[in-house]
Amino acid sequence: MMKNQILLALVLYTSLFHFLEISSGQNHPIYSFNQQKNHEGSSNLIDLKYHLGPVLTSPINIYIIWYGKWDPNHQSTIRDFISSISSPAPSPSVADWWRTVTLYTDQTGSNVTRNVALSGQFSDRAYSHGKSLTRLSMQSIIKNAVISSSSGRPALPLNYSNGLYLVLTSPDVQVQDFCRAVCGFHYFTYASVAGATVPYAWIGNSGAQCPGMCAYPFAWPGGGPPPPTGSGVMGPPNGDPGTDGMISVIAHELAEVATNPLINAWYAGDDPLAPNEIGDFCLGVYGSGAGGGYAGAVGKDSKGNGFNLNGVKVRKYLVQWVWDPVRGRCFGPNALD
Ligand SMILES: *[C@@H]1O[C@H](CO)[C@@H](O)[C@H](O)[C@H]1NC(C)=O
Ligand SMILES: *[C@@H]1O[C@H](CO)[C@@H](O)[C@H](O)[C@H]1NC(C)=O
Ligand SMILES: [Zn+2]
Repeated sequence: MMKNQILLALVLYTSLFHFLEISSGQNHPIYSFNQQKNHEGSSNLIDLKYHLGPVLTSPINIYIIWYGKWDPNHQSTIRDFISSISSPAPSPSVADWWRTVTLYTDQTGSNVTRNVALSGQFSDRAYSHGKSLTRLSMQSIIKNAVISSSSGRPALPLNYSNGLYLVLTSPDVQVQDFCRAVCGFHYFTYASVAGATVPYAWIGNSGAQCPGMCAYPFAWPGGGPPPPTGSGVMGPPNGDPGTDGMISVIAHELAEVATNPLINAWYAGDDPLAPNEIGDFCLGVYGSGAGGGYAGAVGKDSKGNGFNLNGVKVRKYLVQWVWDPVRGRCFGPNALD
């Protein structure tokens, strides 16, 4: 009953403010209330297939490139999340969540690795490629981070065997399609640009630009009326909507890059330019019963902030579920069933 009222409000709301709904590939699309389909229940409409390419089976070395000006507290939140992927924490943990990703295998039957480590960081504080970036800029930003020790900072290694590069842009940086169609994307570098083919992902901090789109459910979609009572908007567990919202997008991209690093492994649909990957089926799903703008059954910390996973250093995070190939549905370790 309560939920029906919320749904009605959301339907009215979304008919006024029609969000872009894009189901696109290497992208993390913007979550839309219009996405009535959610795949928490098993669905035979999902045609997720393996296309014979590699998945990330070797221990993953993550290299973060902090692009722009970053608050050290926000950096810690993100670093601790990465460290949580392969570290023990009380259940349901970030490591439990990653276990679903490790159910994906390659042709040889090797699983996606359980070992994910933060192996290096580089601060591009001087905005080496400006404050308005294209998708292709990301490759040049990576190139810059692996060659430039000139400014006194050591460069990152170009680890072509098991490196994974994360370009994280600060709230003041505009990126092509950011806040219009996507919150993040993953792809791989061209050897001609970066010196080697390595998988990478970009995720933007939406705090100043579109938290209602890319940091939902920590912010209400902007420009509209204030959230109705019981809207499902919740406080961010680490104190910053932009950063806490990024965590779920980072998780989404890591899950997809691990299972489809060269865009020829695990995806659904016939078009590799617009594949649906394992996170895309579960947008907006954080707990059992999710759908239609309701995040699902998640925990509340002592201040009432929402979370569904525990991490290192008593951290709490809210992370969307991913498609579980064994259960045949979206799944996370906080599932009630
Ligand atoms: C590897 O993936 C298969 C298929 O999903 C799963 O049954 C198996 O338990 C996984 N192995 C490990 C070690 O995670
Ligand atoms: C990649 O990282 C691993 C672990 O740090 C290291 O052993 C390896 O030598 C690196 N490879 C390159 C090409 O930098
Ligand atoms: Zn995606």
